[in-house]
Amino acid sequence: MITIALSKGRIYDEALPLLKAAGIIATEDPELSRKLILATNRRNVRILIVRSADVPTYVQYGAADLGIAGKDVLNEHGGRGLYQPLDLNIACCRMMVAVPAGFDYQQAVRQGARLRVATKYVQAAREHFAAKGVHVDLIKLYGSMELAPLTGLADAIVDLVATGNTLRANNLKAVEEIAPISARLIVNQAALKLKRDSIQPLLDALARAAA
Ligand code: PRP
Repeated sequence: MITIALSKGRIYDEALPLLKAAGIIATEDPELSRKLILATNRRNVRILIVRSADVPTYVQYGAADLGIAGKDVLNEHGGRGLYQPLDLNIACCRMMVAVPAGFDYQQAVRQGARLRVATKYVQAAREHFAAKGVHVDLIKLYGSMELAPLTGLADAIVDLVATGNTLRANNLKAVEEIAPISARLIVNQAALKLKRDSIQPLLDALARAAA
């Protein structure tokens, strides 16, 4: 059995065509079914539906052999026990620093101000601001980061930006790119060794589909 961990939403939607090209079709739609384990057209392949931040953990511990996770999530997880053979070039966006439209971020940085930054991506934010020599107090949030500067919780946020619509709708502006983000295939290192005969052809097919 090969078990693949996926999260619902954009990654799932954009992974479907790649999986299909690799010969794997889920027999149920996770948006319609409450099931967390989905069968596929292949008797030896199943799909687990997990929260996006949990995908690396399932694969790290071998509860799933493979998974698809955003670079943002992988960076926070650290990548222990994971083989990352493939950038699938799906769910692309950018990790950005954003502030209220009227806030002069560059000047605050030049003046050496200590900024309060709210984010789900504490690890990436810490590395980014440390590399730039910007003093920050990081506040961990789990979603709706855009609210933080609007309510006085923080001066800035670190968040993912795709169309920019969410920032615009909340009168925020992106001021700095931290990293381009896309979803990666991840594989449990032990599973790759033990099940190479069944996993390697799948990796090859996904690589061809993502190219
Ligand atoms: C992401 C991100 C932004 C939004 C950006 O949130 O955190 O809020 O999408 O997209 P846009 O630039 O196209 O507007 P998501 O919907 O993944 O939910 P989350 O707040 O739970 O992370």
